Amino acid sequence: MTSDDLLAWYPKPMNFTSPALRYRVGLVGFGMIVEETYLPIFASQRHSKLGNVVVTLEAVASRTGARFAKYAASLDAIAHRPAGFHGDRALDRLLETDLHAVAVATPDDRHFEAALAVIRSGRHVLIEKPSVLSLDQLDQLCTAADEHQVLAKVVYHKLFDPDHKRLRTLVSDGVLSHVNSGYCTLLEPRSISADQFSEWITGRNPATYVAVHYHKLIDFTFGPRWKLTRIMAEGQRGVVGPVDGNTWDAVMVRIVYTHPDHREATFDIHTNWVNPNNFPGYVEQEVQFRFDNGLWLGHQRKRGVEVTVEGRTPEEFKTTPNHHYNAEVIEPWGERTRRGYGIEAVRRFFEEAAHVDFGGPPEDRPHRLATMRSCAYNDLAADRNVVAIVQAVEAILTERTRGQCGTCVEVNSALGGLVLRRLDGSIDVMYPGTV
Ligand SMILES: NC(=O)c1ccc[n+]([C@@H]2O[C@H](COP(=O)([O-])OP(=O)(O)OC[C@H]3O[C@@H](n4cnc5c(N)ncnc54)[C@H](OP(=O)(O)O)[C@@H]3O)[C@@H](O)[C@H]2O)c1
Repeated sequence: MTSDDLLAWYPKPMNFTSPALRYRVGLVGFGMIVEETYLPIFASQRHSKLGNVVVTLEAVASRTGARFAKYAASLDAIAHRPAGFHGDRALDRLLETDLHAVAVATPDDRHFEAALAVIRSGRHVLIEKPSVLSLDQLDQLCTAADEHQVLAKVVYHKLFDPDHKRLRTLVSDGVLSHVNSGYCTLLEPRSISADQFSEWITGRNPATYVAVHYHKLIDFTFGPRWKLTRIMAEGQRGVVGPVDGNTWDAVMVRIVYTHPDHREATFDIHTNWVNPNNFPGYVEQEVQFRFDNGLWLGHQRKRGVEVTVEGRTPEEFKTTPNHHYNAEVIEPWGERTRRGYGIEAVRRFFEEAAHVDFGGPPEDRPHRLATMRSCAYNDLAADRNVVAIVQAVEAILTERTRGQCGTCVEVNSALGGLVLRRLDGSIDVMYPGTV
């Protein structure tokens, strides 16, 4: 696979063999992220197509089915109606439906089994971030995707943020050179942990949930010619769960990479899900990257728009919104759409999957599959460093709940791929293979 294969494909409109083909998609999980970034794609199908492929939502599997039922009830008479399944056999029944691709948008610790089942059924899978929680799980999914000749990908929509694309361009062009440290933060409102995620928050932490966006941004923007070296983490408890429990309010992750010239680069990523609900933006999010010759300071909330409406801001809608992520707009030609990089990242997966299946003669499918799998921004095979960080942070926080402070995870040392070191000198080899 050469980068020319990819570049040859990018700028051109999709060239499908079958006109107005219906690309059939299923969803496992039907929560906040589906509402924000998937439903706008299916809704827009009445107006627009991906190339000449119409992407339709055919089936949904969820835990209780309650949120899907509400959505189904809101559809008008002419809308295409997906089948809804819930309960113990929901996933099996979804996979009995005639589908091309399935997206998994269940809570963080429920991605793996669903994704494996989708791949084994021969469908392409898109997994919401964090893809999976351990390298063993990642290995199993990648092996299964190889065997079944399908795509297995993950959504990191911050890579589609125009500011982050520009950052990567300046790094790639050598304008900003040699990153040596950085700081990122993403703080979510208390309503997320108290209401939205209350069913699955126990035993979880906000770093696995959202810091992964920044782990990926750092890994993808400044890599791949460096090595993930060490991971550390600290956190606070006592608001979402008990002070000595395993549910975390806030987490501070520190990751260290080593450049080819042996100089290290260190990044701190701070997250929480206990921000006041009346904060002027939905989430606070900011990055700072320091280079040998420059500084990049980015704020994903304060993008220059500030809106105040008596009695409505900041509760009903926010004072400093991030319209780049997702916003309903009336286009200059009168059409009402929802657009933004959150939606773009998901739409792009359907384009890639449809290209594999229908973008040319069947005998060339292996070549198209290999081309789409070479996209390091979303392919599971390129998610190793992020999953390694997730696995390390989960293990460090578990150690902390057992009273062990100051544990650190080393990457690719003489003892193994992921090695947890405690202050008392004891070690655990968490992943023997190479990260
Ligand atoms: N790309 C991003 O930036 C982004 C942003 C937010 C979230 N996410 C990720 O997306 C995933 C979902 O987050 P969310 O915010 O949508 O969560 P959410 O609002 O809590 O929704 C979770 C959904 O999963 C369903 N579900 C739970 N357990 C299930 C199971 N065992 N089998 C099938 N369905 C199950 C729930 O069913 P019921 O409706 O019946 O309860 C619900 O529909 C998480 O991994 C999260 O980290 C990504």
